[in-house]
Amino acid sequence: MLKLAAGLLLAAAVALLLDWYAPAASSAPAGLRRQRAPRPAPGAEAANLLWAVQVSDIHISRFQDPTRASDLEKFCSETINIIQPAFVLATGDLTDAKTSDKLGSEQVEEEWRIYQSVLKRSRVKEKTKWIDIKGNHDSFNIPRLDSVQNYYRKYSAWRKDGSFHYVHTTTFGSYSFICVDATLSPGPKRPYNFFGILNTRQMQELSVMATESLRSNHTVWFGHYPTSTIISPAPGIRALMSSATAYLCGHLHTMGGLMPALYSQHRSGTLELELGDWKDNRKYRILAFDHDLLSFVDLTFEEWPAVLITNPKSSLYSSSFHEPLVKILYSTHIRILVFSPAAITSVTVYIDGVRLGNAHQASGPLYVLKWSPQNYSEGTHQIDVTVQDASGRTITQGHIFSMEENHPLRFGFWPSVILLTDHYVLARTLFGLIVLIQIALLVVFRYLQKPALKEKPGLLGLTSFSLHVFSKINAFYYSVLVLNLYTVLGPWFVGELIDGQVGACFSFGVFVGGSFFRGGLTYVVGILQTLPLILTSNLYTFTLLSEFFCPYKQVAVIKQKEWPGQLLHAEYSSDQ
Ligand SMILES: *[C@@H]1O[C@H](CO)[C@@H](O)[C@H](O)[C@H]1NC(C)=O
Repeated sequence: MLKLAAGLLLAAAVALLLDWYAPAASSAPAGLRRQRAPRPAPGAEAANLLWAVQVSDIHISRFQDPTRASDLEKFCSETINIIQPAFVLATGDLTDAKTSDKLGSEQVEEEWRIYQSVLKRSRVKEKTKWIDIKGNHDSFNIPRLDSVQNYYRKYSAWRKDGSFHYVHTTTFGSYSFICVDATLSPGPKRPYNFFGILNTRQMQELSVMATESLRSNHTVWFGHYPTSTIISPAPGIRALMSSATAYLCGHLHTMGGLMPALYSQHRSGTLELELGDWKDNRKYRILAFDHDLLSFVDLTFEEWPAVLITNPKSSLYSSSFHEPLVKILYSTHIRILVFSPAAITSVTVYIDGVRLGNAHQASGPLYVLKWSPQNYSEGTHQIDVTVQDASGRTITQGHIFSMEENHPLRFGFWPSVILLTDHYVLARTLFGLIVLIQIALLVVFRYLQKPALKEKPGLLGLTSFSLHVFSKINAFYYSVLVLNLYTVLGPWFVGELIDGQVGACFSFGVFVGGSFFRGGLTYVVGILQTLPLILTSNLYTFTLLSEFFCPYKQVAVIKQKEWPGQLLHAEYSSDQ
């Protein structure tokens, strides 16, 4: 009965968790198809179309991989020439700022000079608008924003610290891009400079920008850190950006290749789209607004042709709160952006595996093909586009689209866990729980009467027995107690967290240069520091267990052992 109840409870918890972390792409409101035909609807003209590029985590380094810089220069000249984006967002970690042993961190002027010379030599700023913002690496070891080490102010294209609101104005509407600058100032060295932090004043500034942006056709927020790694006061950074169609970020790279595509969606319908790094993976993103429908594709440098289907857009990356999705149903043409250094020889469109025909060039990179969306108004459908260029390169891009109010597409569980969990809250909670449980167990078992050990105790019996022994030996009891309390209260160390500025590191955060930064990574380190204590406090269990796995005369074996503290020995003798 108890097992059944526990099982049910567990199942419910898992279902809740799955639901929370696999948000349904927000569906269209009821009665979508009864609405009047929206104007303008996607057709054959190259109008109402805007596209931009994002690149992230470039990590120009004086010590590692010089091709990061030379490839970026090629990207700024060749790739940007081909794509001709309205603007480029470079979302942080422009430079690596690590010492040659990869352990330390400091701003390296030479890296910034290389970065600046890439922008200069490629003349990218004459071809497009280059909006580069800081990442945590660009803020390592900077005592104040106005200190010389803040090379971002001298060598970047944007040069202004802090969040800002950039409005891109076109003949068909205006598009807001709000930058979230959550980098720390003063900027501590590694490793306690991994989480971004926003204070109340910064949140207020962002809130004003959010209100201003309501006048635009669309708002996109961008920053270096995913929202899960930003520490912000209530109502939290996600609530602030709820009117945004998407939040673009970087910082987590591809998590060592484990997460090549980190996308999810907030409860408000805002997409959160992390982009893989330039550093090792040479990733970049093309993002388009076509008749106010957002679409994007993540690509690898020098892999051509680049293909982005803008109509019909992917259902998964749709939000009826932010987009006029009904336009798909009233569109007359399938629309595709195609880029390649070579001439395009064919753009073939398939829906549900059936060849619909070849799209023709409307203008520039836009290819269109007439279609009847009513034929696909029910259920979900797969669109695929195969593009071939004169150099013989072929690529197929596709996605699922739907004109129904509900569709079964869900974001992946792990990407959602990574992007939607407030990791510092999780780490703080875990750390607190581990320390509390440990101290409580020690204290309780110290004052509990020691029961007699059964002849063949189970795992639970063994654990409890070892806890009794452990907590009753003064040397262990006091050392573990003091170590635990010290881990909580600290300070763990005092030192130059920034060159020339002494700071102190505690489990709950870092004091440096007159500022206090709430803990993020510190809790993770705290967990790692307290875990060994748990393990050692159970050393008896492990030892006893290994004895019990020995098939012969377990009790006799144990009796012969020399146990620290005569307690245990006496216990056994008196039992027998
Ligand atoms: C942008 O918004 C304006 C005002 O609401 C509207 O007239 C215009 O059609 C919109 N642009 C697009 C591409 O839908």
